[in-house]
Amino acid sequence: MVEHDALSVTREGYDAAAHIYAQRFRDELHDRPLDRAILSAFAEVVCASGDGQVADLGCGPGHITAHLDALGLSVFGVDASSAMIESARHAYPDLRFDTGSMAALNIADGALGGVLSRWSIIHTPPQELPVILAEFHRVLAPGGHLLVGFSASDDPSHPTQVFDHTVAPAYRWSPDHLAAMLRTSGLAEVARMVREPQPTDRRQFQEVQLLARKARNA
Ligand SMILES: C[S@@+](CC[C@H](N)C(=O)[O-])C[C@H]1O[C@@H](n2cnc3c(N)ncnc32)[C@H](O)[C@@H]1O
Repeated sequence: MVEHDALSVTREGYDAAAHIYAQRFRDELHDRPLDRAILSAFAEVVCASGDGQVADLGCGPGHITAHLDALGLSVFGVDASSAMIESARHAYPDLRFDTGSMAALNIADGALGGVLSRWSIIHTPPQELPVILAEFHRVLAPGGHLLVGFSASDDPSHPTQVFDHTVAPAYRWSPDHLAAMLRTSGLAEVARMVREPQPTDRRQFQEVQLLARKARNA
């Protein structure tokens, strides 16, 4: 019930914001060399581990899905917001985009070589995150990789902090705490990139991208 409420608020928020979000972020990678670097590394390890399909979960307007496609991955996007999915389909008609919830994915066990979740867990209330991490683990093949992007909490005494977000309630995480939750879900950290806030950033938070892997014998 709680999860349904949080997801409904997120979905409605992004339905209303889809057009403006797409306009604002569609070309963001042009000015983000570090993001391009970690996405390239993700694409490379996915290919090296067997070249399975990749899902961009919480894909928004699909610009990162399209970037991964251009890097040679077989990728599709999933998002809870139907307006986001419409926007993604319109911009990238050759790619596949489905509506769906990260907490109950319509994807078979072990079907994916990679999962990307780029700032899509930020709207999940902390008590509901284990369900989503379990879904990421379930849909990954043994040896598959997860790349998860999120904003870092800067209060060492609290693993999560609520932050002001214009679309829906949002949470930032201590990177160590999130890495420990991933480990508990069967996803071992491989690497992390921490980008310090830059003067031009709207929010003065560290941005974290954590790469994790499901064990080969899982
Ligand atoms: C901040 S946007 C990020 C979009 C995109 N990943 C990017 O990097 O720009 C968050 C997206 O995640 C989606 N989202 C949030 N929670 C979700 C959930 N539980 N299931 C599916 N999509 C979700 C929202 O609808 C929204 O499009």
